[in-house]
Amino acid sequence: MQLNKRKFDVVVVGAGGSGLRCALQIARAGLDVAVLSKVFPTRSHTVAAQGGISASLGNMSEDNWYWHMFDTVKGSDYLGDQDAIEFMCREAPSAVYELEHMGMPFDRNPDGTIYQRPFGGHTANLGEKPVQRACAAADRTGHALLHTLYQQNVAARTHFFVEWMALDLIRDADGDVLGVVAMEMETGEVSVLQAKATVLATGGAGRIFAASTNAYINTGDGIGMAARAGLPLQDMEFWQFHPTGVAGAGVLITEGVRGEGGILLNANGERFMERYAPTYKDLAPRDFVSRSMDQEIKEGRGVGPHKDHVLLKLDHLGAETIHKRLPSIAEIARKFANVDCTKEPIPVVPTIHYQMGGIPTNIHSQVLTVGADGAEHVVGGLYAIGECSCVSVHGANRLGTNSLLDLVVFGRSSGRHLVDSELVRGSHKDLPKDCADAPLARLARLESSSSGESIQDVANAIRASMQKHCGVFRTSDLLKEGVEQIAQLEQRVQSIHLKDKSKVFNTARVEALEVENLIETAKATIVSAEARKESRGAHSHRDFQERDDANWLKHTLWFRDGSRLAYREVQMKPMSVEAFQPKPRTF
Ligand code: FUM
Repeated sequence: MQLNKRKFDVVVVGAGGSGLRCALQIARAGLDVAVLSKVFPTRSHTVAAQGGISASLGNMSEDNWYWHMFDTVKGSDYLGDQDAIEFMCREAPSAVYELEHMGMPFDRNPDGTIYQRPFGGHTANLGEKPVQRACAAADRTGHALLHTLYQQNVAARTHFFVEWMALDLIRDADGDVLGVVAMEMETGEVSVLQAKATVLATGGAGRIFAASTNAYINTGDGIGMAARAGLPLQDMEFWQFHPTGVAGAGVLITEGVRGEGGILLNANGERFMERYAPTYKDLAPRDFVSRSMDQEIKEGRGVGPHKDHVLLKLDHLGAETIHKRLPSIAEIARKFANVDCTKEPIPVVPTIHYQMGGIPTNIHSQVLTVGADGAEHVVGGLYAIGECSCVSVHGANRLGTNSLLDLVVFGRSSGRHLVDSELVRGSHKDLPKDCADAPLARLARLESSSSGESIQDVANAIRASMQKHCGVFRTSDLLKEGVEQIAQLEQRVQSIHLKDKSKVFNTARVEALEVENLIETAKATIVSAEARKESRGAHSHRDFQERDDANWLKHTLWFRDGSRLAYREVQMKPMSVEAFQPKPRTF
């Protein structure tokens, strides 16, 4: 089959905040950069980020990067790599000012500085009291950020491949990555996009769960591509439940609501977080608040006919503050919960929101793997940034608003590293002759069988299984059963077929390809979770309730080949300061 071929210096897969920030750096340096996206760039999931982007600007009261670093390390339950965390927190103010200078419409204080609100786990003076560190554009911060970066990329002449899906990485015999095989979604035409460097910026995979704040596009495409290319996935057992998804709908209600003074209530009208976190209360980190909510529900103090959610009260903030600071929340409450939040509380429940794990990288965002000799090394020509990557700045639990920060800090630094690299100055390596064989064979298999599994049945079964077996609280029995179920579902994925081909639109073909990425992500998650015999951050294990630093202060690596696990050390040495040693987390 004759394939279309295009050549670029760099191909970026994904047009969310990290992909766009990286592409901008490269395009502005005069290099030829292409960005592929399954959706129009400004519909990427970054658009849904609400509450803010963290940076110790100190606009509301004293703050500094070292306090931000402390909060991030503690929030990560000490699994985050402290060199990367120091780097991110130090870079945060300049990354935010840069966005401001690009025209991002932040909310303002009366003196013209950027407005900052409190968020969970953000403190002054190493945990002494809350600090306002989340730089906000009302409750639409991701929307403002994404539009700003897209416009800058248009001006910088980045090439966009809109409604294109990357299918697989191209690796040569040396293990170097030479670009991607990709499909134009409208026509189904497959092309080779050759590049000196490839950047995976495909976002999260929250759609492996049934109840998720994530967009339908978040199917772990980069994760699947990396796994199929033989690369490891790191810390996939750590998935963040956001405390406040709209009950029954999953739509995000920003933590900014609690930042502005909203409180959680149980069926008795009790502000229960006062019992669980006497100091931070409703603004404890997310893993802590989600577990507390789940506990209230399990102990019978949930609200509603099924006692399966709690309430988020914000009417006391007043309609004026709600409409000024939280306009989208008022709209979401009305449309998805049928409540007027200026008068009544919103029904909320912990909902899957963010993957802390992903494709392991070093601090320059270069992807890491383990060679046959057991030594760790960089994969030539491949970078990963944003939610699909694991650098690891979030460890076992991310702090709210550190996600947008991660996107722009590592988007920018990976772009800088690429621009300065020998890689993009050299010539393209020759493509292997069989570089598109594997994805073409996958497409052919979908078309060939006359009967088999329906795409949505299998996708829904994966989601139901992950929801049941890998939730807020996990047990050995549940996880073991989950590993078995996901292995059975893996077989069913192999027999997915496209029904009644004369009527198949390419959306069905895309969904089938997405399920192949969902299953890799689900398998990496459940196998890694089953093996970790402790409770840390978002991995809360009923049979091993304590954190076990002696045995488990280490990153998990999952390899697709044989569903094998290995472990690597946590980087406890920051760049310039003393390490924060693990301590019990109290709030
Ligand atoms: O609650 C929120 O606005 C979400 C922010 C985040 O996940 O960082």
